[in-house]
Amino acid sequence: MKAKLLELLESEQFVSGEKISVELGCSRTAVWKHIEELRKNGYEVEAVPRKGYRIISRPNTISPHEIKMNLKTKAIGQEISYYKTTSSTQEIAHRLAQEGAVEGHVVIADEQTKGKGRMGREWHSPHGSSISLSIILRPKIPPQKAPQLTLLAAVSVVRGIKQTTGIDCDIKWPNDLLINGKKVVGILTEMQSEPDYIHSVIIGIGINVNHQEKHFSPDIKEIATSLAIEKKEEISRATLLRHIFSELEILYEDYIEHGFTTVKSLWECHAISLGKRIKARTMTGTLSGVAKGITDEGVLLLEDDDGVVHHIYSADIDIS
Ligand code: BTN
Repeated sequence: MKAKLLELLESEQFVSGEKISVELGCSRTAVWKHIEELRKNGYEVEAVPRKGYRIISRPNTISPHEIKMNLKTKAIGQEISYYKTTSSTQEIAHRLAQEGAVEGHVVIADEQTKGKGRMGREWHSPHGSSISLSIILRPKIPPQKAPQLTLLAAVSVVRGIKQTTGIDCDIKWPNDLLINGKKVVGILTEMQSEPDYIHSVIIGIGINVNHQEKHFSPDIKEIATSLAIEKKEEISRATLLRHIFSELEILYEDYIEHGFTTVKSLWECHAISLGKRIKARTMTGTLSGVAKGITDEGVLLLEDDDGVVHHIYSADIDIS
């Protein structure tokens, strides 16, 4: 009923109470009650005598209805599993992928209680201000090329953020998005595969959208920020998601058809670590040197002080 009423209200400027009662097949009193319900859910609805009702503003929610309104993609985000609270969207996406979810299916949560970060870390996603999502892809590429999709996701999110807020983010290899040196987005790519075949790639994206400083613990405050803090205004999370889905679909289609070239050069335009002295903290130790570039597989090349070039597959990077 709520979805139908919203659809009606979105179809024209003012919709009369009579039209709503006919379309929904209910009494005028019931229409009024449904409008009150919308107001309780954060919609600002104006009622003008002899004209009817119209929506003035929407709540900053990320329900599938809000996201799908005006979504122009073919696959990404056309199927959405939405949770107010869940342990981790990544976990759910893995299960759905095993059960045969289609390419482009997205799992979204308003809050995660056990969000997974890279290298076994936790990821905090507070209720209402963050976006936590996991996107299921089924690329027909060899498993060793999967890291390219991490870079593709990073570029898509940079472009989605630019379109929504006008803010330029930097990318720190492989996939941290930073504003003025502070982290605003984290991306975790995982896959279900056999040695030579990918069943699915799950791209997990965590975005600090409307966090205020109080949302960050004292130690995190120094290294993290949010889009709202940087832009100094609240950001529509549904609009941001739509832009990210569109950017991702455009780049993904190009990637599947023509390969990594476009993504690689876009990624390089936003990368801040290239050409700089870096410290790479890997699972097995720390390497220092200059970041020389990335390979066609998305692997970071680090040249140490003896001129030896190391291939870095997974690490945390400090830029000096
Ligand atoms: C990082 O460590 O920087 C990566 C963080 C990735 C967090 C996202 S939030 C949505 C998805 N679900 C998870 O549990 N993790 C990823």
